Amino acid sequence: MKRGYPDSPSNSSGSVPPKSRLKYTPEGDQHFSEDFVQRVADHYSARTNQTLEEREASPIIHLKKLNNWIKSVLVQLYARRGDAVLDLACGKGGDLIKWDKAKIGYYVGIDIAEGSIEDCRTRYNGDADHHQRRKKFTFPARLICGDCYEVRLDKVLADDAPFDICSCQFALHYSWSTEARARRALANVSALLRPGGTFIGTMPDANVIVKKLRQAEGMAFGNTVYWIRFDDEFSEKKFKSSSPFGIKYKFHLEDAVDCPEWIVPFNVFKALAEEYDLELVFVKNSHEFVHEYLKKPEYIDLMRRLGALGDGNQDQSTLSPDEWEVAYLYLAFVLRKRGQPDRTQVNSKRDKGKMHISKEDIMYVQ
Ligand SMILES: C[S@@+](CC[C@H](N)C(=O)[O-])C[C@H]1O[C@@H](n2cnc3c(N)ncnc32)[C@H](O)[C@@H]1O
Repeated sequence: MKRGYPDSPSNSSGSVPPKSRLKYTPEGDQHFSEDFVQRVADHYSARTNQTLEEREASPIIHLKKLNNWIKSVLVQLYARRGDAVLDLACGKGGDLIKWDKAKIGYYVGIDIAEGSIEDCRTRYNGDADHHQRRKKFTFPARLICGDCYEVRLDKVLADDAPFDICSCQFALHYSWSTEARARRALANVSALLRPGGTFIGTMPDANVIVKKLRQAEGMAFGNTVYWIRFDDEFSEKKFKSSSPFGIKYKFHLEDAVDCPEWIVPFNVFKALAEEYDLELVFVKNSHEFVHEYLKKPEYIDLMRRLGALGDGNQDQSTLSPDEWEVAYLYLAFVLRKRGQPDRTQVNSKRDKGKMHISKEDIMYVQ
């Protein structure tokens, strides 16, 4: 059976987005915002680790591989041997191997979802048998459970900073529910990065999403693997530039996401980032990113190995058109912290990192 997106809000299936009875999020409406933050955390916490077989059977397996390729390219472009890395919204640690290949020197991962942090811990330790870990990771690490768009991470990580790289993959849009949270996200990144340090990330491309909304007949659109639905409060399909926060929609991606998300108008993101001394290096929609970096032999080879487009030999399986459409919903960005790198500064305070992380080592912050 083909899975489509809902066109009727009266559909009562569990995966159909509920019609919100709540009004537009006023800035500072703490409880309203907290409710959605909790919903996002619960959603990701409940997603258990998949076996290799389950993963390969996923209807979006090639999209997952493509996204891994995009993240790997970003890591290879910017990570240097010995770098200290801050992974905001690290999830289950899906990028640990990428950082290991880049031979980083220290890793701190933070996520709001307790279940994901626990999965990340077992993955880092190499304990979970469904992760094909053969050897230990070569860098010490720390894991923190908390809301990185609410907590003052500069205080929590005062002894670990500065970081050379901050990464926030497929997660920054969860900060855009209020201006205060968006600012906290950028303030945290800016405070923890060294001058000249790099902020890499991926997030939904607001231009594409709004364009698709305007092309849709109703308030929902999608294909066999995803749907997006906006509440009727946005029925004019116009978004005031004076209210760029709290533009919520419900996102469903088969076998991956089913929770509220927020539009991040990129021009506002860029301007706000500048206020925090973070300058744009580049932004590219995922389609453009793929076209550009697939011209380079080393990344063609990486794509072959990851298998998003088949392996070029026996494996003819490739991304479906519907998965490719989902890729178009995202962009990749790189920002750089203003200032000159201090080459004399050596970070010697990384003794908080462990080569084996026990449950007690996980720090919970509020
Ligand atoms: C789509 S997943 C991406 C995970 C990981 N970055 C990756 O690329 O595999 C989004 C992640 O953002 C996390 N997240 C959402 N809101 C957060 C918040 N306020 N603070 C920390 N993590 C958050 C979720 O728990 C989830 O793990």
